[in-house]
Amino acid sequence: MDVTVVDHPLARARLTTLRDRRTDNASFRGALADLTQMLIYEALASAEVADVSITTPVSDTVGARLANPPLLVPVLRAGLGMVEQAHAMVPESNVGFVGIARDEATHQPVPYLESLPADLSTTPVFVLDPMLATGGSMLHTIDLLRQRGAVDVTAVCVVAAPEGVATLEDSGHPMRLITAAVDDGLNGDAYIVPGLGDAGDRQFGPR
Ligand code: PRP
Ligand code: URA
Repeated sequence: MDVTVVDHPLARARLTTLRDRRTDNASFRGALADLTQMLIYEALASAEVADVSITTPVSDTVGARLANPPLLVPVLRAGLGMVEQAHAMVPESNVGFVGIARDEATHQPVPYLESLPADLSTTPVFVLDPMLATGGSMLHTIDLLRQRGAVDVTAVCVVAAPEGVATLEDSGHPMRLITAAVDDGLNGDAYIVPGLGDAGDRQFGPR
């Protein structure tokens, strides 16, 4: 699996805001939106473009548009904090939804929502979830996408644990991971260390 760590100084600054326990929910949401912009920018760096003929006030010229905009798939709840910014950057994208709540005792993904196009065989897909911990939630999401024929899948995460990266690698699914950091590992509660805590709770409050 191709793993890209976005290590731009601005990305590190926003990630620091996200990690800081003193950051309130509103500031957390703002920093997550900013960082999402940087991650999506990187995720699209090698996207195919199509020529567009236009006329400037001065002359004719040829510009560009995305040839095949990605389907954006936020994983609820925490991925909701990424989708608005991602969609603002790629307004021509469609959006699908997956809802998963991790069982706090077993750390297994418990899916509760699935709203995706039936055929994804010709569509690049960006899965938006700030946290890749055990990798169970992301793997479940990618299984859903693969069942619909997806062959071009990119996981866009803020923080990844090595355990989650290994889960995706071991799955054998062809995919990419774009993240702002690969952290040290998981603690006994399967939280990422140092991580940023519970990304859903820090945006929306406890559930
Ligand atoms: C978080 C996070 C991921 C998942 C990662 O969601 O947003 O979806 O945990 O953990 P994993 O890699 O071990 O599966 P959570 O289940 O806490 O739900 P929430 O987004 O509703 O808070
Ligand atoms: N989910 C989160 O929100 N944070 C973690 O550290 C692990 C899973």
